[in-house]
Amino acid sequence: MKTKNTFWFILMILLLVGLAACGGGGDDRADSADSSADEETAVVSTGDPEAGKQQYDQVCIACHGPGGEGIEGLGKPFTTSDFLQETNDEEMLEFIKVGRPSGDPLNTTGVDMPPKGGNPALTDEQILDIIAYVRTLQ
Ligand code: HEC
Repeated sequence: MKTKNTFWFILMILLLVGLAACGGGGDDRADSADSSADEETAVVSTGDPEAGKQQYDQVCIACHGPGGEGIEGLGKPFTTSDFLQETNDEEMLEFIKVGRPSGDPLNTTGVDMPPKGGNPALTDEQILDIIAYVRTLQ
């Protein structure tokens, strides 16, 4: 009798351990699926376009015009920009922090795009907001 109880006891333990292992494995898979989904949304857009519009209207509007239509002899239009479409948020952030001086071979207008649009106080987060706003203009 005693050995029979021990047998069932061990069997139960094995079953429970087996279940826990399976459950754990399932969770791991779910976790990694979740985190890759997070990464994808981060690339699409992390900024807040409403907050970005407020910054845009103070900093970028002077050259890129209201609604991003561009101003002749100053900033390029965003509404038709291939650059904006081909560049992800991370690359855009780097671009805006550096700007594109008139001496840059990629510069097409002969006019400076100043670093951070000439406002060094802009934080990365504010710039990401601006990027999110600018993307709504296309
Ligand atoms: C002093 C004027 C000026 C200000 C202010 C300014 N820009 Fe620009 N920006 C330019 C010019 C000029 C170019 C085009 C440079 C060239 O010829 O390639 C440009 C180009 C760009 C481009 C690349 C467009 C393309 O199609 O190649 C982006 C993106 C951009 N600016 C974003 C911004 C943002 C965001 C701000 C505000 C934070 C801003 N700019 C503020 C002058 C300005």
